[in-house]
Amino acid sequence: MTQRFDAVASEWDKGDMRQVIAHKVFGTISSRIALNTTMSIMDFGAGTGLLSFKIAPLVHSMTGVDLASKMLEQLEAKNSAEASVKTVCQDIMTTPLESTFHGIVSSMALHHVEDTKALFTTFHAHLKKEGFVALADLEAEDGTFHSHGNEGVFHFGFEREALRAIMEEVGFDNVRFHHAHTVVKEEGEYPIFVVTAIKRG
Ligand SMILES: C[S@@+](CC[C@H](N)C(=O)[O-])C[C@H]1O[C@@H](n2cnc3c(N)ncnc32)[C@H](O)[C@@H]1O
Repeated sequence: MTQRFDAVASEWDKGDMRQVIAHKVFGTISSRIALNTTMSIMDFGAGTGLLSFKIAPLVHSMTGVDLASKMLEQLEAKNSAEASVKTVCQDIMTTPLESTFHGIVSSMALHHVEDTKALFTTFHAHLKKEGFVALADLEAEDGTFHSHGNEGVFHFGFEREALRAIMEEVGFDNVRFHHAHTVVKEEGEYPIFVVTAIKRG
């Protein structure tokens, strides 16, 4: 899976689709969460930073976590005095970070992680008291979204109620789903949600 993203890292930002998804996801997150300059935020599966760099200027610090070092190299090349994102190339599910965050955001990375319950348990452990998650991914699809093949794809999107049950089980409250965008391809239409929730006190 990591090799797959490393191989496409230099091309990742080309074309409109991923830019538009990041733009819509950012719009949905920023309309639901009052981001402010005291917050430390993690972008899980940050990739080249398409979402991270939209949020970074609005918060105190942004940390992009990813397993694909070449994706993070592309991200690091975008750092500037105006917007800067720290990078961590580490599996935080097996090697947690020492710091905790006011919020965790993510775009299109959840479906690449096999054990969703373990992932949300990891998110919970990396949040400060009453920290938030705001996470974008595909609604349940038929496996045709990834037209290049489904290597490294563990979930064909998510059923909202199944995801809500996992989130509530591991300790999140106020779980809410918001429509962010619909990707239209020849193969079909693929709605994307942002799910927001708060770490239970
Ligand atoms: C579809 S890309 C999305 C990248 C970026 N968020 C965007 O919207 O352009 C998924 C990213 O998740 C990363 N990823 C997958 N599993 C991961 C894991 N367990 N920990 C951290 N990153 C992971 C991949 O390396 C890849 O960069």
